[in-house]
Amino acid sequence: MNSKLLIRAAVLMLALAPAAAMTGDATSLKEIMQGLRNNLVEISDGLLTDDFKLVAHGATSIAEHPKIPASQVQLVAAELGQEMAAFKQLDNFVHDLSLELRAAAQALDRDAAISSYQRMIEGCLDCHRTYKERVAAVLRPEAEQQSAL
Ligand code: HEC
Repeated sequence: MNSKLLIRAAVLMLALAPAAAMTGDATSLKEIMQGLRNNLVEISDGLLTDDFKLVAHGATSIAEHPKIPASQVQLVAAELGQEMAAFKQLDNFVHDLSLELRAAAQALDRDAAISSYQRMIEGCLDCHRTYKERVAAVLRPEAEQQSAL
C-alpha cells in the first residue's frame, strides 16, 4: 500500500470510529443507564423552562439508546430466565413512552408531554424496583464481586 492509500485508510477509520461507538457494542448497561439519566435531566429542564426542543431531544435520545451488548444480554437472560420477557417489556414500555413524549413535545402539547414524562419515569422506576439489584449483581465485574464476598 502506498502512503497516500495508507493516509486514506487512516482517515476512513477515524471517520468510522464514532459510528462504531454508537452501535453500542463497546458500552455496558450501566453506561446506557447513565446516558438515560442525562437524557431525563434534559427532558426535566426542558419541561421546567418550556423548551420543547430540549424535551424532544432528550426523548429521542432515550428512544434510540444504544443496545445492551450481547454478552451482557446473555448474563441477564441467564439470571432472569422466564422473567426476561417482563424485563424486555419494561424496556419497551419506556421506549414507547419516549416516542409519545417526543411527539407531544413536537406538537408543543405541554399537558400530553408531562403525562408521558411521568408515566415514563414510572417505567424506569418499576424496572429498578423489580430488577436493578439482581441484574447489577450479575453484571458487576468479577473483581468487584470477589471483594463484595
Ligand atoms: C428494563 C429495566 C430498566 C429500565 C426500563 C430502566 N432501567 Fe435504569 N437500570 C436498570 C438496571 C438493571 C440497572 C443496574 C445496572 C448496573 O449496575 O449494571 C440500572 C441502573 C440505572 C442507573 C444507575 C447507574 C449507575 O451509575 O449505577 C440510572 C441512573 C438509571 N438506571 C436510570 C434509568 C432511567 C432514567 C430510566 C428511564 C428512562 C431507566 N433507568 C430505565 C434497569 C432498567
